[in-house]
Amino acid sequence: MTEKDTPDSAKSSIWGGRFSSGPSQLMQDINASIDYDKRLYRQDIAGSRAHASMLAACGIISESDRDAIHGGLDTIGAEIAAGDFTFSAALEDIHMNIESRLAELIGEPARRLHTARSRNDQVATDFRLWVRELIDSVDEALAGLQAVLLRRAEEHADTLMPGFTHLQTAQPVTFGFHLMAYVEMFGRDRGRFADARARLNESPLGAAALAGTGFPTDRQMTAELLGFDRPMANAMDAVSDRDFALEFLSSAAICAVHMSRLAEEMVIWCSDRFGFIALSDAFTTGSSIMPQKRNPDAAELVRAKPGRIIGALNGLLIVLKGLPLAYGKDMQEDKEGVFDAADALGIALAATTGMVADMTARPENMRAALEQGFPTATDLADYLVRDLGLPFREAHHVSGSIVAIAAGKGCDLDALSLEEMQQVEPRITAAVMDILSCEAAVAMRRSFGGTAPDEVRARIAEARARYGIGAA
Ligand code: ARG
Repeated sequence: MTEKDTPDSAKSSIWGGRFSSGPSQLMQDINASIDYDKRLYRQDIAGSRAHASMLAACGIISESDRDAIHGGLDTIGAEIAAGDFTFSAALEDIHMNIESRLAELIGEPARRLHTARSRNDQVATDFRLWVRELIDSVDEALAGLQAVLLRRAEEHADTLMPGFTHLQTAQPVTFGFHLMAYVEMFGRDRGRFADARARLNESPLGAAALAGTGFPTDRQMTAELLGFDRPMANAMDAVSDRDFALEFLSSAAICAVHMSRLAEEMVIWCSDRFGFIALSDAFTTGSSIMPQKRNPDAAELVRAKPGRIIGALNGLLIVLKGLPLAYGKDMQEDKEGVFDAADALGIALAATTGMVADMTARPENMRAALEQGFPTATDLADYLVRDLGLPFREAHHVSGSIVAIAAGKGCDLDALSLEEMQQVEPRITAAVMDILSCEAAVAMRRSFGGTAPDEVRARIAEARARYGIGAA
């Protein structure tokens, strides 16, 4: 690679004082972050507005300078929103792009804005504000996903299906019960994001480069103006901390892993072998060669998204590991991973919500699947304990022997005659016939959080109250 000449050999108007020429093209290429950090423009403008208000309130700049700055920032916000803003890589990042445009628009007052501030506290503030908004939108999306799951769970509170362990038929459950497991998982995700938000919500603004400032500033005021709970207590920590990004990414990684489990179940459920659900044309694609195909691509992509998100978490942990305080340019590498993870999480949440709403259950196929795998063998063992007083381990053995007979005959447990069962355990009575059906097995599991339809309905009602999600 050859190092090209200085792009325009222009010194930086922002920091060029002690330089005699501009950076090389390569320096600009590795250094510029504007291509991605322009996503912070609204937050950068909000931070600058608050800073200017505070500088004026503390008598550090005049009120007319503040008004000029506010007016200019409003114009810039409108220009960027309308796509009328020319971003320049020579100006490195969003902070300097905006400040430079502000100088073009309003002249001298723009040059007073950076008093008692540094790009270090500025970027930390912008990024916190951005992640805070992101967390709020993720919470809304998660609540929407829970709402759809609750509706589908209600609809299928009585729909029997096999519950699996090791992906082998275990015990009968209801489809509504199964879906409610995800309502809980996404509820914990919301809790994790909320915890992260609470810790995030302190203001770095006014920490300046790392040591605070000699100007008589009011960090409390800027914190309040930006909706932060308080200013961060240590200026060095304020500019070097990225815990909020790590906490967002780790919460996002766990949430994405949850979605990937549901997505994988959907892939299994809609396979020809299972046929428990069907996804419509809206969430499937065809094959370019096999005309019969309907592929669950959206579910597969949701299943894959944790790759990026976990990758972003790993990436940022590695950037921060061993990084000495305070700011190092390494920290500019904090944003792309978070932006990419945010996009991946957002699309995965939307697609998952869409698929859960879209899927059509096939209760007949779920019921048919219960004819295999002896899903009520545990109920037989429980009956032997309850009605005959056998110790559970012995009951397990007896039930296993009876399953072996049914397996040998190729029939289900409730297709065996009482006599066949009595050959294994003579004390078994006709009452056993009542507990071998899947309907009975499900209805019986009324323990708190169990799969009995009435219990599932009670938990749905309680979850609706807990999450403030009313019935549609
Ligand atoms: N673009 C930089 C970032 O994202 C802004 C902070 C630059 N600070 C500095 N001292 N060079 O981290």
